[in-house]
Amino acid sequence: MLYLDSANIEELRPWVHQLSLDGITCNPKLLAQAGIKADDFIGQARALGFDRPHQLFVQVTATDTAGMVAQARQLWSRWGAVYCKIPVSPAGLTAIHQLKRSDDASGAICATAIYCERQAFLAAREGADYLAPYVNRIDREGGDFQRVIGRLRELLERQQLPARIVAASFAIPEQLTQALLAGAHDLTVSPALLTQYLANAQTAQAVAEFASYG
Ligand code: G3P
Repeated sequence: MLYLDSANIEELRPWVHQLSLDGITCNPKLLAQAGIKADDFIGQARALGFDRPHQLFVQVTATDTAGMVAQARQLWSRWGAVYCKIPVSPAGLTAIHQLKRSDDASGAICATAIYCERQAFLAAREGADYLAPYVNRIDREGGDFQRVIGRLRELLERQQLPARIVAASFAIPEQLTQALLAGAHDLTVSPALLTQYLANAQTAQAVAEFASYG
């Protein structure tokens, strides 16, 4: 699956009829940069056409377990089938544990801000549906994101855990292919980077050359 990582509705709008996209992810920083509140973002993204279940991802801002649990419940009760992104801090892992063992355990969770496979593995054990390793941020720390993703995918398969890996946080197009080859199921990409990913200077040159004969 391919998601766009942005909270900017105007930036997202042109993509609706451009490629087969599976939904939109965002985080508190992206919401702030776009100057939009989470509820308005969900409403406007649905109006844009991302209105099928589980197409939108919104992150909690609380840092304590009780606050994360309360925000997740509020999100699901207001909007239904949206993914609640919960960072894999110790408090976040406990929040995932509590939410997945409660009466509203059907709420969809994406464990996020993953830097190493053990955090993701623990989140998957607690029932997180999606796991979001931070590719470029791992790279920036001198880590090996392909190794993290590859080992995580192997762990999920060996332990028969159904969570999917949605690789996030990219800086250059090549990282997208590398993440998929390492074992990520899905990607979430900023519109700017997706623009770079689908462009090729030589193809543009060939198109211009052929057009000159038209
Ligand atoms: O979806 C997570 C992503 O938005 C974080 O990306 O570019 O801030 O590392 P970045």
